Amino acid sequence: MQQVVHVDLGERSYDVQIGPGLIDQAGDWIAPLLARPRVAVLTDETVAELHLDALRAGLAKAGIDMVSLALPAGESTKGWPQFTRAVEWLLEQKVERNDIVVAFGGGVIGDLAGFAAAVLRRGVRFVQIPTSLLAQVDSSVGGKTGINSPVGKNLIGAFHQPSLVLADTAVLGTLTARDFLAGYGEVVKYGLLGDANFFDWLEQKGPVLAGGYMAARVEAVTRSVQMKADIVSRDETEQGDRALLNLGHTFCHALEAATGYSDRLLHGEGVAIGCALAFELSSRLGLCSQEDPSRVRAHLKAMGMKTDLADIPGELPGAQALVDLMGQDKKVVDGQLRFILARGIGEAFVTGDVPPSTVVEVLEDALATV
Ligand code: GLY
Repeated sequence: MQQVVHVDLGERSYDVQIGPGLIDQAGDWIAPLLARPRVAVLTDETVAELHLDALRAGLAKAGIDMVSLALPAGESTKGWPQFTRAVEWLLEQKVERNDIVVAFGGGVIGDLAGFAAAVLRRGVRFVQIPTSLLAQVDSSVGGKTGINSPVGKNLIGAFHQPSLVLADTAVLGTLTARDFLAGYGEVVKYGLLGDANFFDWLEQKGPVLAGGYMAARVEAVTRSVQMKADIVSRDETEQGDRALLNLGHTFCHALEAATGYSDRLLHGEGVAIGCALAFELSSRLGLCSQEDPSRVRAHLKAMGMKTDLADIPGELPGAQALVDLMGQDKKVVDGQLRFILARGIGEAFVTGDVPPSTVVEVLEDALATV
């Protein structure tokens, strides 16, 4: 059942191994990368409790020792205080230039550990072992690393590609239903942005995939990672096509800011709602048919996912305030917002040519149902 996707980036190329049981085999996969049989693992307390013993055993089978630091779980870890703590700890552990740092956790740990590896001794190699669906299909692949600033999300960071990604799909079974579905928001995003057949497949297989059917999980992760690998290979530093991966994210980032980056809205939930809004906006601009946003929303609803602004608990600011929050987005160029819109399912494109008044209209209509 195991699959591999190659991320082709010249001398920074690497493989993403996908399948159940990879943590158990982690030592065999990592050993060829090591100058000495020792790794430093950054993780979070939740993942440590559930899976750190298994990783230690998987590494020990190949004679690899492990030291580990478990940071608090949650988005608030992804800032300067815990980042400083992680970097100082890696130095205390005498991690050398030729050693490997392992990022063992979801998107927060992957981004923070990757950034720590990027700056430690001017750059050490790292391996991603993503444990959430969101991290397996998106954040562990492509080399975006970083932390949040009080000014906005992911504003401090570096491109630093991992040397290997081990996406063990068996660990997805320990996610809460909410976390799993939030990650599924990023899976749906791939179908919507570039592969209508994949979206058709998700409409059919989504329920069994969410129910735990392993072959469907492996296929969904593999197809998602393959799409991401293809895009990252042609545009590593997001000069063009890589921005397609941000479908739904302009709306999502405004909603995350409006909800204080809290438990009210998980990132993947915001991506799902953002994708529905991006299709609504595309239809309003006459770019895609009116049926497309309905079909997107129908699938999200069928999966039991947050789909509409009304699904976000608590009050939201008005439409203009949400548009103002989009102004902090990294995709702003010369003060102009860039959106990922679609000419149909699987046909996304990047544009700066969106009248702000239409965005306000779409949000006003969406807020009217709250
Ligand atoms: N998560 C979007 C990207 O990696 O470009």
